[in-house]
Amino acid sequence: MVTFTVEDQDGNRQEIEAPDDMGFNLMEILKASEYPVLATCGGMALCGTCHIEVLEGKDGLGDATDPELDQLENLPEYYPTSRLSCQIRISDILEGAVIRLRGEDVV
Ligand code: FES
Repeated sequence: MVTFTVEDQDGNRQEIEAPDDMGFNLMEILKASEYPVLATCGGMALCGTCHIEVLEGKDGLGDATDPELDQLENLPEYYPTSRLSCQIRISDILEGAVIRLRGEDVV
């Protein structure tokens, strides 16, 4: 299991535990934890509604892929810390990370 912290739209933080050996991505875990992530494209890096910021622990995650960057650049707001949560595979790299939900930026 890997443990990381999620900050919701209201600034409330909660620790989330997720299995790191089942091939889930972060968007799936956020949805399973009942966060309001629309994920309308189902994790194809096409909708941008799973937008998050990685506040801590970004270094270990590597760079966004080109399709991910293309989608991020189309968002109304996009930060250096922005990622698409569907493109982040749950692994021990996320241990101790802090992420902030940003999906509400997408209308
Ligand atoms: S779920 Fe659509 S871009 Fe991530």
